Amino acid sequence: MKNKQLIEQLDLTQKAFLMSGASTWETVPYEALGIPSIFLSDGPHGLRKQEGAADHLGLNASLKATCFPTAATIANSWDPEIGEAIGRSLGAEARNNDVHVVLGPGLNIKRHPFCGRNFEYFSEDPYQAGKMAAAYTRGIQENGVVACPKHLAANSQETRRMTTDSIVDERTLREIYLTGFEIAVKEGQAKSVMTAYNRLNGVYANEDKWLLRDVLVEEWGFDGFVVSDWGGSNDHVLGVAAGSHLEMPTTGVNGAKELVEAVKSGRLSEEVLDQRVDELLTVLLATASLNYQKSPDTLEDHHQVAKKAARESVVLLKNQEVLPLKAKAQVGIIGDFAETPRYQGAGSSVVNPTRLDTTLEVIDSYDLDYQGFAKGYHRSFKEDQELIDEAVALAKRVETVLLYIGLDEISESEGLDRSTLSLPANQLGLIKAVTAVNSQVITIISAGSVIDMAWDQDVQGVLHGYLAGQAGPSAMLDVIVGKATPSGKLSETYPHDYLQLPSARDYPSATNQTVYQEGPYIGYRYFETVQKEVKYPFGFGLSYTQFGYSDLTVSETGISCLIKNEGQYDGAEVVQLYVSKGSEVIYRPFKELKGFKKVFLKAGESQRIEIPFDDKTFRYYNILTQEWAVEPGDYDLLVGASVQDIRLKGSIQQVGEVSSPYELESIPHYFSGKVTDVSLAEFEELLGREVRLLPFTKGQELFLNDSISQLVYAKSGLARLVYRILDGMLERSEKKGKPNLNVLFIYNMTFRAVGKMTNGMANQDMMEAVLVMVNGRFWAGFGQLVGAFRRNRKLQKRGI
Ligand code: BGC
Repeated sequence: MKNKQLIEQLDLTQKAFLMSGASTWETVPYEALGIPSIFLSDGPHGLRKQEGAADHLGLNASLKATCFPTAATIANSWDPEIGEAIGRSLGAEARNNDVHVVLGPGLNIKRHPFCGRNFEYFSEDPYQAGKMAAAYTRGIQENGVVACPKHLAANSQETRRMTTDSIVDERTLREIYLTGFEIAVKEGQAKSVMTAYNRLNGVYANEDKWLLRDVLVEEWGFDGFVVSDWGGSNDHVLGVAAGSHLEMPTTGVNGAKELVEAVKSGRLSEEVLDQRVDELLTVLLATASLNYQKSPDTLEDHHQVAKKAARESVVLLKNQEVLPLKAKAQVGIIGDFAETPRYQGAGSSVVNPTRLDTTLEVIDSYDLDYQGFAKGYHRSFKEDQELIDEAVALAKRVETVLLYIGLDEISESEGLDRSTLSLPANQLGLIKAVTAVNSQVITIISAGSVIDMAWDQDVQGVLHGYLAGQAGPSAMLDVIVGKATPSGKLSETYPHDYLQLPSARDYPSATNQTVYQEGPYIGYRYFETVQKEVKYPFGFGLSYTQFGYSDLTVSETGISCLIKNEGQYDGAEVVQLYVSKGSEVIYRPFKELKGFKKVFLKAGESQRIEIPFDDKTFRYYNILTQEWAVEPGDYDLLVGASVQDIRLKGSIQQVGEVSSPYELESIPHYFSGKVTDVSLAEFEELLGREVRLLPFTKGQELFLNDSISQLVYAKSGLARLVYRILDGMLERSEKKGKPNLNVLFIYNMTFRAVGKMTNGMANQDMMEAVLVMVNGRFWAGFGQLVGAFRRNRKLQKRGI
């Protein structure tokens, strides 16, 4: 043990208290022993330090901080250096505000575009997500501040996020859902990791010893601490035993009491507790002992980092020779987002920006003949013909329309999953009306995730800025006028229709089980394997210039090729390496991303670039030997500008031994990739066990780990009434166009979590009593509740 002497001075109760928060954001201090409290704050794209009323939903104000573009945006830059620069600035702001742990980056895999939190995550590809997350982590930690990649693992839906059980076969889990975390830990040296709310193959992620010790510590060499997501600690004793350290937020004295009792009863060994205390203290003391000198960076410096990051992440999806705009081009601006930008998502990641550019405020500093603005639509879905008429009038009298559209606040948020890829109908109506009267319409999109884009056949230019942070609007105008050449490329596939996705069969899952029946065939892995056309492929993005690819050489250590900027503009290209191997023994997606490089070239310039191979280039996970392995044979090396636009092709042979873990006949659809046709029985074959689906039924008994939203099925009429009240509140917020995060959170919260998120005001005994009421025995439960309430109040006053 690294802190043996110190730990010997702590008694059992003190050690137990160290394993839970002291408040929403702080750990427990023992000043006399030299153990300070450390402060944890969200989040992934800017600091959310709350000094006043604390919450984990972004409801109460936080200190001003730079709002960088969200992860979904930055992934489009395909530039880890930008990720590192953001991390560095984020870490510096954390340091300047005495924050020790930044709760990010978020890198869950985009299994389905409906996930309401996709804006906070990088990619549908684990390699890309991992490289970006490692870069953020390095940048944050350069300041001595601890980064916290989240949420480990398979946390790909918001609906009943605290209840759902992600059922994933081990190979898919390792190759798709864990690889990104592996890269963030190994290459970023993350000093903490946050566990996911959900269960993974039946076990809560925060209690999964296999995940937290065997994989995270033993295999990946993680030497930091594990923190539960807020309210995500189910059984604290099991968590600590399995390798989790810190339960957040505070549970009053309850968490410590559980640990003390568990040690006394022999359910938890004191040795294991000591080990966890030691691991936590090692990171805590190192970060807290740093001489927290304030960073000399100014907020203006960070605004510029945010602007550069946003600029390099803009994706040009369509350009019928309308972009860049020429000097003095006559433009009209249409769309509410130009006046009130949509620049970040809702939920725990919300940042209170130091300043906020808006298109209308900065437009005059560009050399354009700006003719005026029309709002075009309401943020809520309300139709308004007057707004359309006004927009049409403006569109008729200008040469070019800059049409600002996208998803509004209610359409994507932490706590909810989307139910459509469509833009709000009032925006679709506007696009139709404006394109009918103007033939130079350029749409500028703000949205944190995939949208349906069938409408783009009517417009002449499409720029996608995702959620671009506080400097997004001016970064976008730089691209529009050609001060910068767009160089972003999509990090997720845009299907023609979400129903094409194999994960769409049950998303978000209709029960508390989420069956990852499609295996590894996520996003482009599916579409490329079954050769289905998509709207915009993974890795796609246009430029104002053109790049030539030539002279591919392949060596044992990597590929290299020549990239030439053959056009008129300076610009950057994202060169992507995909590996492909046909095999009758090991099923695999047709193409898999295994490397990428962003290269900036002046017009006419060329450069030889290299993409090295690494331990992930040829590997697959062999479930029989329980090891990573390389299948022998020829591998195609595909170098291109997107997953579909392959410009150079090479190959390489790998040696090794193949031990086949599969019988083709029993899992044919995983070999063909046609996983929309996989039956549950075939999935069970892959999984190696039976899946017992547990549908919801009316009048069913509810338990501690059921969600509040399941009150709809409750026995008690009163409980169902509570559900209807909550539902009504949600409906009203939907109509207003603003997510009601409070209700959303409660809705997806478990009964158990209610007892864990009230600073100790409620506990599990009280929630058990509530459940007796919910399950139809109102008065018995009520009596039990009063007793449990009294006991808990005494306990919180008295302490353990
Ligand atoms: C989110 C985490 C966040 C935490 C603290 C949770 O609801 O899932 O990502 O870090 O709150 O705000």
